[in-house]
Amino acid sequence: MQRQLPKKNSRTTKLQKTAKIAKKITLKTKKTPLKSTKRSLITTPHPPEYTNAVNDNPRILITGAGGQVGFEIAKEFRKLYGKNSVIATDVRQPPAGYPEGPFRYLDVMDLNEINKLVVDNNITWVCHLASILSAAGEKNPALALKLNTRGIENVLESARVHNLRVFAPSTIAAFGPSTPPDNTPDSTIMQPTTMYGVTKVYLELLGDYYKNKYNVDFRSIRYPGVISSAAPPGGGTTDWLVDIYHQALTKGSYTCFLKEDSALPMMHGDDCVKATIGLVTADVSKLTQTTYNVTGLSVTPRQAAASIRKYIPHFQISYEPDFRQAIADSWPNSLDDSMARRDWNWEPSFDLDGLTRDMLGALKVQYNLPDDKFKLPPM
Ligand SMILES: NC(=O)c1ccc[n+]([C@@H]2O[C@H](COP(=O)([O-])OP(=O)(O)OC[C@H]3O[C@@H](n4cnc5c(N)ncnc54)[C@H](O)[C@@H]3O)[C@@H](O)[C@H]2O)c1
Repeated sequence: MQRQLPKKNSRTTKLQKTAKIAKKITLKTKKTPLKSTKRSLITTPHPPEYTNAVNDNPRILITGAGGQVGFEIAKEFRKLYGKNSVIATDVRQPPAGYPEGPFRYLDVMDLNEINKLVVDNNITWVCHLASILSAAGEKNPALALKLNTRGIENVLESARVHNLRVFAPSTIAAFGPSTPPDNTPDSTIMQPTTMYGVTKVYLELLGDYYKNKYNVDFRSIRYPGVISSAAPPGGGTTDWLVDIYHQALTKGSYTCFLKEDSALPMMHGDDCVKATIGLVTADVSKLTQTTYNVTGLSVTPRQAAASIRKYIPHFQISYEPDFRQAIADSWPNSLDDSMARRDWNWEPSFDLDGLTRDMLGALKVQYNLPDDKFKLPPM
């Protein structure tokens, strides 16, 4: 008994010491509270470290890579990291002229197939683009709900298990009619009225949850309408600003499915790539949010038509608003992207006339139009 007494005393002392250290840590934590809990839906504390936060030689899996955005992102990632470091995937064949490199079938509804591709190709980053967009989603809300929610669930689960960095875009459609429409900030009311918007709010929140709970390095951007000449748009409400350039060249006129003064945030495809690469490669310690607004310009159909007339003076526009007008009315007119500018130096490169000039120039080549059709004025 006498021999046990000192042991008991030493154990008590150890416990007391541990309790003291624990108390110190608790006091320290209280002194440095986490950032605003009010903004916790999209603002997260930084986890201490990411084991896969290596920008050198990432191995990138892109889902929905055959779409409008995937085409541009695959091209740029392949330029940066080499064609074999980027596994482009989709459920359909790649469009003509797709950037050279591996292209595989992958249905994002199938978690096993995602895991298999991740393991077989030593993937470290996933760029999850597979989605049903706004107008297509209102035509088939059940499919949009299923694909847009199951897709991100599967990608995040794979990321949790395989320790992947995930980029998955959100959209301006995550906002709704009760959101302040002008210069809309990152953190505000989000009550979308489209199925697409509902699923994208879910994506943002689920990504945030996986980051907080499992340290998954999730990053997202609320893209505005993306305008590019390389691949056709996939059924969104901002598609008019792609169609208008095609038809200005081929017909000299365009009938818009939105009203003339319907303003929406947009960006050139090159700016979409610039923003995406900027966020995906950003130093994680600089990121104060998981999801960021970015924008290039805010534009109405009337303003776009005026810009086109600088190059094609006879261009005519008429207006026949359809179901997409109600969708556009529920979205912001313009976005505040100051947080992206501050945290990872985001800055767009194209204004409206720059966008018009670039789209008309690129499409003129695609349609093989003669020089006398119209001339681009010098810069
Ligand atoms: N294009 C825009 O203006 C815009 C604006 C805001 C946000 N976004 C977002 O950017 C991402 C890419 O959009 P996009 O414009 O390239 O769309 P898109 O419609 O052009 O491409 C989506 C791709 O997903 C593929 N896909 C469909 N079902 C699939 C499945 N089960 N498994 C795997 N792939 C499947 C399609 O075949 C298609 O190639 C989406 O998340 C979208 O919400 C786009």
